[in-house]
Amino acid sequence: MTEQQSVQTKTASPATPTLPDAQTVTSVRHWTDRLFSFRVTRPASLRFRSGEFVMIGLMGDPHPETGKQKPLLRAYSIASPSWDEELEFYSIKVQDGPLTSRLQHIQPGDQIILRPKPVGTLVHDALLPGKRLWFFATGTGFAPFASLLRDPQTFEDYDQIIMTHTCRDVAELDYGKELIENIRSDEMMGELLGEENLSKLVYYPTTTREESPKMGRITTLLQDGTVFKDLGIEGISPETDRAMVCGSMGLNTDIKEILEGFGLEEGANSDPKHYVVEKAFVG
Ligand code: A2P
Repeated sequence: MTEQQSVQTKTASPATPTLPDAQTVTSVRHWTDRLFSFRVTRPASLRFRSGEFVMIGLMGDPHPETGKQKPLLRAYSIASPSWDEELEFYSIKVQDGPLTSRLQHIQPGDQIILRPKPVGTLVHDALLPGKRLWFFATGTGFAPFASLLRDPQTFEDYDQIIMTHTCRDVAELDYGKELIENIRSDEMMGELLGEENLSKLVYYPTTTREESPKMGRITTLLQDGTVFKDLGIEGISPETDRAMVCGSMGLNTDIKEILEGFGLEEGANSDPKHYVVEKAFVG
């Protein structure tokens, strides 16, 4: 852990819910001054598919005249795998963001609102069978892949999984880097995913604003062929390659164009194809 990071943990006491759909925060970890992750209790009835998101939030300020409070909710990808007994989320801190300006101050024992209705397109069901699976993320767009990378199905269905993550600075890669290290070294993860499967996982982190071993936007590195050269891959084709994309609007639009250029078509839950896209939570 770097100096910038801090962890707070506390055994969740089942506090009396005072909010609708209340869940209790069990731990919070601040990764940088822009990023934090947290874990909350999981509603007993909540089932979800890796890669899906739920609406979470806090109560808004009281209305100046009526005094009524409304929930302030945003879509957040569930970062924990579907077998985990708690739920994990990975968030940006926007200083003037209506929700994250407050959410960044949560502490273990606090309550958040969580609507237990998972949805989303970054699910295995939305893709046709393939050999190689690409996960393209920028910033907090890593979250749904943190779930999918801990799902045995990801490793059972593909021969190779390539996790690309582009961030501004090196410290912003830490959440993903630590997760990948944990998947590779944790005995329980090895047993769950299959030791022999771990070699299928390729991690390709890049930064755009701070010096690191691999610099540049993933879009540029795909367009100029650097990624393929680095990984010893000929290219992307609809016969073998599948992709899931989660990042800023800009990344999503640009990657879509690149993937379509390789002949891939966008899929959906009801119409599985070669790739799927979701916007990362922004503020
Ligand atoms: P850049 O530094 O060149 O803007 P953010 O923190 O603003 O969400 O950005 C996360 C990362 O996504 C940054 O490294 C940023 O690069 C990169 N990025 C932003 N827009 C795009 C895009 N259209 N294609 C690829 N990467 C992008």
